[in-house]
Parts: sequence; structure tokens; C-alpha cells
Amino acid sequence: MQLVQSISLMQRRARLWAQAGIGVGLVPTMGYLHEGHLSLVRRARRTLGTKGKVVVSIYVNPTQFSPTEDFSRYPRDLKRDMKLCRDAGVDAVFAPRDQEMYPNQPCGAFSTYVAEEMLSKGMEGSSRPTHFRGVTTVVAKLFNIVQPRVAVFGAKDFQQAAIVRRMVRDLNFPLKIIVAPTYREPDGLAMSSRNRYLRGDLRQQALALWHAIKRARAVTAQNSKPVPASRLKAQLKTMIESQPSARLDYVEFFEPETLNRSEKVTRGTHMALAVFVGKTRLIDNGRL
Ligand code: PAJ
Repeated sequence: MQLVQSISLMQRRARLWAQAGIGVGLVPTMGYLHEGHLSLVRRARRTLGTKGKVVVSIYVNPTQFSPTEDFSRYPRDLKRDMKLCRDAGVDAVFAPRDQEMYPNQPCGAFSTYVAEEMLSKGMEGSSRPTHFRGVTTVVAKLFNIVQPRVAVFGAKDFQQAAIVRRMVRDLNFPLKIIVAPTYREPDGLAMSSRNRYLRGDLRQQALALWHAIKRARAVTAQNSKPVPASRLKAQLKTMIESQPSARLDYVEFFEPETLNRSEKVTRGTHMALAVFVGKTRLIDNGRL
């Protein structure tokens, strides 16, 4: 397995693979890898076969964090990530440096961004206004650098995956996006690099997100008629905030294809939520 840190080297390698007719699959990550990330790696491998090259990018992308967020303390451990990637059969890890990704040169600093303008408005986009512009910008850069045939994203970040799909369609990136299911701990907590912030009983309180999804599923299963979203939101807020350190940021119901908000909730409606557990902001989602 190779560690590639230079953009030009990664592009050269990608060109050689393309000339040899070798398919490339990219799994973009911010590192501190867990089983959820590795499930995407396995999905990429299954899609490409043994002859394909699976590339994992590891880059904590500064442009998707606001100044008040956890960019500087986001967990990083490249050595550990490298071992996990090697064991998972990854062919190359692309871990660029900030100076190369976002040059700040005297002749001109980085000043070009990619922004999706519809799907990015609600949910994560309203709580974190510049977040998705940072995501689409870095993902577009990674696609141009690694030149993958397929890229695998997780349903854990449902809105992100929808926005990346839209960007690929709108800007004609020549690749296929695969969205793999959310990988959970045995008790239901969605795996996340940020789970490591959950100290003491916050880990238990973090189950509030999964319990809220299960409650919403039970409510829609019990009701033959659509349930008003406002009523369900109020119930879920009370339930979540009965945990002493949990504060609901948002819970939303929407159509999974368009992300259009649903005022009536039925089976098949999608639900997404963000909850502060202590200082840690967690997200989760699921189909009802
Ligand atoms: P990160 O949070 O590291 O996640 C990398 C990829 O892993 C994303 O596609 C995310 O949806 C997926 N993932 C995370 N937890 C998962 C889980 N429990 N089950 C399945 N998939 C999971 O998302 C990002 O990084 C960044 O925004 C990135 C796309 C890399 C751009 O910087």
C-alpha cells in the first residue's frame, strides 16, 4: 500500500492506472477511521474487483468547518489509519497537506469554490451555512486529483451524499456515486469519528438519536394515516431532551430523493436529526 501526499504524484499515478485500463474507486474521508469507513472500502473493493485500485483519501478539510467548530481538535492519527487501510486491502492512501490543497501564495491565495445551491439549504446547511460549500469544493478537488471511476459515500451523511450526487450530475464528473448504508455500534449508535469525544455517560445519552429514529418508525408503523410532522417533532424533542446533556438542533422529515420537506409523515418518509450531546454535535438519519 502506498502513502501519497503530493497532488501531482497522485494525478500521475491516476493517469498511469487509466492508461492501463485499471478502474479506480475513491473513498473520501477525514480519517480517524472506524468500521463505518471500512465498510465503504469493502464496498469499493466489491464494485471494482481485485484488479481495481481502491484509494482512501484522508484529509481534515478546513473549508467545511466554521471558525467556531472543532477543526483544530478533530481527531487525527495517520499511523493508525494507515494500518487499518493496509489490513482492509486499500491500494493507496492519499493524504495531502493543507498548503497544497489550499495554497496561500504571494501570487494569489485559493479563491475558487464549488457550491450546490438547492439541496444544501436545509438541515445541516441551515445549521452550518458554509459547510457544504467546503464539502463540494474538496470533493470536486479529490475527484480531479484521484480521477476515480466510482466514489463511495456513507448514508450516515445522507444530505452530503445527495449533494455530491447532484454536483456530479450538474458538473458532469465522469464517475458513479455509490451510497452505502450506515454502520452502527451493536446498541444502534451510528459510528462516527466524533464519538470519541463522548466521555462518561455521554456515550449512553448519545443513543437518544437512534432511539428517536426507532420511536418515529414505531409511530408511523402504528398509524394508518399520515402523522403531522410538527406533532412528531415535538414528541421527539421532548424524548431527546429528557437526557440531561442532550439538546436537539433539528429534526426534519423529507422525501429521500428531493430532500423536500414533508409536513405529513408516513412510512417511506426519511428522517434526519442533529443533537448536541454535551458539546459534541452528532447527526443520524433513517427511512421510516
Ligand atoms: P467523514 O466524516 O470522515 O466520513 C467519510 C465517509 O464515511 C462519508 O461518506 C461518511 O458518510 C461515511 N461514514 C461515516 N460514518 C459512517 C457510518 N457509521 N456508516 C457508513 N458510512 C459512514 O464525510 C466526510 O468525512 C467529509 O465531509 C468528506 C466527504 C471526506 C469531505 O471532506
